[in-house]
Amino acid sequence: GDDNESPQKETLIMATNAEFPPYEFHEGQGIVGIDAEIAAAIAGKLGYDFEIEDMAFDSIIPAVTSGKVSFGMAGMTVTPDRLESVDFSDSYATGVQVIIVKEGSQITSVDDLFADGANYNVGVQTGTTGDIYASDDIEGAGLGTIERYNKGADAVQSLATGKIDCVIIDNEPAKEFVAANEGLKILDTEYAVEDYAICFAKGSELTEKVNGALNELIADGTVQAIIDKYINA
Ligand code: ARG
Repeated sequence: GDDNESPQKETLIMATNAEFPPYEFHEGQGIVGIDAEIAAAIAGKLGYDFEIEDMAFDSIIPAVTSGKVSFGMAGMTVTPDRLESVDFSDSYATGVQVIIVKEGSQITSVDDLFADGANYNVGVQTGTTGDIYASDDIEGAGLGTIERYNKGADAVQSLATGKIDCVIIDNEPAKEFVAANEGLKILDTEYAVEDYAICFAKGSELTEKVNGALNELIADGTVQAIIDKYINA
């Protein structure tokens, strides 16, 4: 009879770009980090199996809107533009766009990038908010040029070797990349403060379920415990 047939568990597939420590990064054969653990906890709570699909950052929203994956989670900032193509969960973390320079750089604050006659070569990860802001505020304003990289770490590498003047990137990966490279520092002034959230295809029935589970995991301290494990350890 049907009694012994347990229904096959459905799988939640998370699209990410695992070049963004401590939110998602490669460790051994796997992908770990704050987003990976929160998403796995959500899937567990909702009774789904869980998989991560690694891709370029600017492929995540297309993968979500085409239904190839269940959702995107990648330290992704909620922006008005993105809200035109996807729905977002509630926010689970704050990100700050910061500027990495070489020690001794003549860029000493965010304002220096926008000073009259400024003409710096700015590195960003393609498709990130750092890219979007710099494209508008710096390249678009004729105040400098933008170098776009597939990985934030590649932009930082390029800065370390003197090919570019600074990198605009989120604060937590910035700290890790600066720690891994000698002679770099993060400027004290912040470029922008942002909310990270999970994105879904518009109208997806998953949004409410996942958001409910996320809020329970925030309320019971699980999310903070995961964040503390990676950030305040
Ligand atoms: N917060 C920034 C954004 O939404 C950068 C996110 C990059 N994430 C990643 N996994 N590479 O654009």
